[in-house]
Amino acid sequence: MQGQFITLEGTEGGGKSTNLRFIESFLVAQGIDVVITREPGGTDIGEAVRAILLNKDFSEMCDDAELLLMFAARAQHIQEKIKPALAAGKWVISDRFTDATYAYQGGARGVDIERIAQIEQWVQQGFQPNLTFIFDLPVKEGMARVLSRSQQTGQTIDRFEQEKQAFFEKVRTTYLERAKASPKRYEVLDASQSLAQVQQCIQARLRRGLP
Ligand code: TMP
Repeated sequence: MQGQFITLEGTEGGGKSTNLRFIESFLVAQGIDVVITREPGGTDIGEAVRAILLNKDFSEMCDDAELLLMFAARAQHIQEKIKPALAAGKWVISDRFTDATYAYQGGARGVDIERIAQIEQWVQQGFQPNLTFIFDLPVKEGMARVLSRSQQTGQTIDRFEQEKQAFFEKVRTTYLERAKASPKRYEVLDASQSLAQVQQCIQARLRRGLP
């Protein structure tokens, strides 16, 4: 049987990574074979493209190059990793996917949505996640979490994380608009709640079954 494809989205600092592990454990406990991955990245080629995309020395990167690099990494990811895993009956959980392109390159950078939709159709030919969790929280709160994490771990801020609040407000708004337009595929989580509360909501959603 074909596996299911779940994606995690949201602005920075919403707890995607922690909850990705939670979702993985929940599914593994049900006897499901799970593949964890991320975008941009997920394959050797995709990770090399990610390094270019997140490099904050590349401040000259134009919006179209950014958009096409996201989809170049995604094309490889779908072909090499996601589709073969789903065909083998595994469930794939990806930390971000195409909704991020609509939110960051579309909503925040201002790239024409029609253009994104055309490239999406070209690359994905209708291929979509079965379920998308959106970790939603006030932008200021998320930015503060990212800052404190980078201070604790010594991790530097990447090319996207260095954007200003207004940029992430547009990202957030776009995610919420997309969720509202197709409520079946999305589960919006209030990520400003405690981790236990967020995980309760995730569990409840997974127990209800996928659309
Ligand atoms: P991460 O911080 O969740 O690992 O994601 C890396 C960054 O890439 C994040 O700031 C969002 C950005 N991004 C886009 O701008 N467009 C996309 O299509 C994807 C997948 C990520």
